[in-house]
Amino acid sequence: MTRKNSRNKPPPRRIAAELVIDRLGTKGDGIGRLDSGETVYVPYALPGEYVRVALGGRRGEGVEGELDTILRPAADRVEPECLHFGQCGGCALQHLDVARYRALKLARISSALTRQGVTGAAINDLLVSPKGTRRRVTFSAESGRSPRQPSVVVGFNRRASHALVDLDECSVTRPTIVALLPALRSLLVAILPSGGQADIAVTEASSGLDVLIEATAALDLAAREHLSEFASEARLARLMWRAPGGAAEPIAIRDPVFMRFGPRDVAIPPAAFLQATEFGENAIVQAVLSALPAEGRVADLFAGCGTLSFPIAAAGHVVLAVEGDEAALAALSRAARQGGDRISVERRDLERSPLEAAELNGFAAVVVDPPRIGAKAQSRALAYSTVPVVIAVSCDPESFARDAAILIEGGYRLCWVQPIDQFLWSAHVELVALFRRELP
Ligand SMILES: C[S@@+](CC[C@H](N)C(=O)[O-])C[C@H]1O[C@@H](n2cnc3c(N)ncnc32)[C@H](O)[C@@H]1O
Repeated sequence: MTRKNSRNKPPPRRIAAELVIDRLGTKGDGIGRLDSGETVYVPYALPGEYVRVALGGRRGEGVEGELDTILRPAADRVEPECLHFGQCGGCALQHLDVARYRALKLARISSALTRQGVTGAAINDLLVSPKGTRRRVTFSAESGRSPRQPSVVVGFNRRASHALVDLDECSVTRPTIVALLPALRSLLVAILPSGGQADIAVTEASSGLDVLIEATAALDLAAREHLSEFASEARLARLMWRAPGGAAEPIAIRDPVFMRFGPRDVAIPPAAFLQATEFGENAIVQAVLSALPAEGRVADLFAGCGTLSFPIAAAGHVVLAVEGDEAALAALSRAARQGGDRISVERRDLERSPLEAAELNGFAAVVVDPPRIGAKAQSRALAYSTVPVVIAVSCDPESFARDAAILIEGGYRLCWVQPIDQFLWSAHVELVALFRRELP
């Protein structure tokens, strides 16, 4: 949560340069070259554009370039939606037209696969989450240093910076979450010390807004009263508080916080992992269900709170849900017990201790939905198994392609990839992919 304070540093020496942007990088930044051949990364510039930039610090082998003037705009440049675009680090691609945007996200997947020598897979069209549907965000806040004029900035980080953008609007986030910002600002003005910082995780659960504030502030009686008033006026389902490194403490719980997964309401822990949009979650669930065999036991690995386990069980399968996070697994397990679902659970670190081939054999299908780093160890174990169907859900094309190559080397065929966009106007892309065992 600690952000570096760059206010007192002298500004870096700025050298201007003019260049043509050749391509977009994986973070959505324009990339061009100086006459010297040095690579320059230019956020908010598009391929084909001729731009004037201020050269900044080193970035890998190249150098950062801050866009100063677009001397010749690209034909596919469009007017961005949000007044904060160009400052806020949340969106990198609002200035790109829809066709080029979709092509860029699909190319991230196909080029990652090509780099791993995986060719010939059918890549379906991108399913894009609509505007204003992100239901899980973490805002940052920092209070001003003037005791006479208390103020707090609440928003997202600026592009490649520790400084914050004070958000008035956000085109990608649920309006119910954006509407919380003025009240959040007033609350933090009252409780943060001068120069104090906070991170505020907000989730729109099925039962209402769930907020976890992590802050460097003393929770005295006055602060508790402010927090409780804020929770009541904003009609939050739950407000939790955490000092950095401490445990989350409940401040106000109006309603049980649950998410509906398939037929089941799961009481989720604070700041639990959830798919970023309801649209994205539905797209992932539908793609996974469509890839499952008609019957047989299914292992749901990296199961979280059961986003996939419950719909898979509702489709008639016996499910083993494996997850490393204790609180998430406890939530899944409790809901499964209460609902009488045929879901058993196991807590396990799947990176250090993946399910081995002998444990995997006998499952009709295995679903793997790891964090960004992917599931290298688990993919290696699957490569030695006889499991007929593996369904990969991934939020990172690079680690997915690496794991796909491991599975293919082990005798699987990549049948199709369904790209899904949950992080509108960012460079991220997610996917579901079906692998079938061809060779024993
Ligand atoms: C991308 S989330 C997917 C969760 C769930 N499938 C869903 O759709 O909501 C990845 C999950 O993997 C879990 N995880 C991360 N590293 C793990 C590990 N080494 N072993 C087991 N689970 C892990 C996280 O706690 C998280 O719940």
